[in-house]
Amino acid sequence: MAGGRLLVTGAAGIIGGQIREGLRGHGWKIRLSDIVEMGEAGPGEEIVTCDLTDAEAVRALVTGCDAILHFGGISTENRADLIHRVNIAGTYHLYEAARKDRVRRVLFASSNHVIGFHSRETRLTASSPIRPDSNYGVSKAYGEALARLYWDKYGIETLIVRIGSCFPAPKDRRMMATWMSAGDMLRLIGVMLDVPRLGCPVVYGVSANGECWWDNSETAYLGWVPQDSSAQFAHLF
Ligand code: NAI
Repeated sequence: MAGGRLLVTGAAGIIGGQIREGLRGHGWKIRLSDIVEMGEAGPGEEIVTCDLTDAEAVRALVTGCDAILHFGGISTENRADLIHRVNIAGTYHLYEAARKDRVRRVLFASSNHVIGFHSRETRLTASSPIRPDSNYGVSKAYGEALARLYWDKYGIETLIVRIGSCFPAPKDRRMMATWMSAGDMLRLIGVMLDVPRLGCPVVYGVSANGECWWDNSETAYLGWVPQDSSAQFAHLF
């Protein structure tokens, strides 16, 4: 899928900020979107402020885009009504707009909170049953199910990424196992955009850390091999 227009929701967020520069220079026109300030547009970028809860605005936002990185929304546990409005209704608006505008591919930023009630002793694969641990986790399970529906029914491909902890550095001992570098996220985005056939796979978004209980062997065919490791932060914990 070389070229075209790539929409990034949640562009002002922690992940959006970490990947923004790395998305440039690959021939894509980048449409950055959020509800908060995103700074000046850089080379190849356009900035569009949009509230995901506003279906009409989301429709306009998606118009003319070929692929979407959907990072926007509430990113931690919060009041159920807020989670419903932004993460559930907002993600629905986005997929409906994608269907109407014939967007081909989406990366859905799901979360390890979809499977958060499994014990750490259980090795989890893409096929493990969901066990959401919060309203937030349930909203991500909804997004995963919606992605699946829009693939099976409408042929929109989605890379579902159950992100571990994508921050500049791990913040505690647990994140030594769940950390994902921005570089590994960018390489995964490259796979999502370039792989000839994507479908709707679930990938655990985690770097090649020393310890981890998530297993990506079912999606090895995608060819994504994380390059970074939390070992560089071992002195912190
Ligand atoms: P973040 O909270 O820093 O960024 C989310 C962005 O969404 C914010 O800039 C916020 O302004 C925007 N947003 C919130 N409500 C909105 C609305 N109504 N309309 C439009 N935009 C809205 O989160 P972060 O860390 O960058 O995560 C990005 C995505 O990845 C989120 O969906 C999060 O749930 C998911 N994720 C992130 C993880 C991480 O380690 N950073 C771990 C697991 C999942």
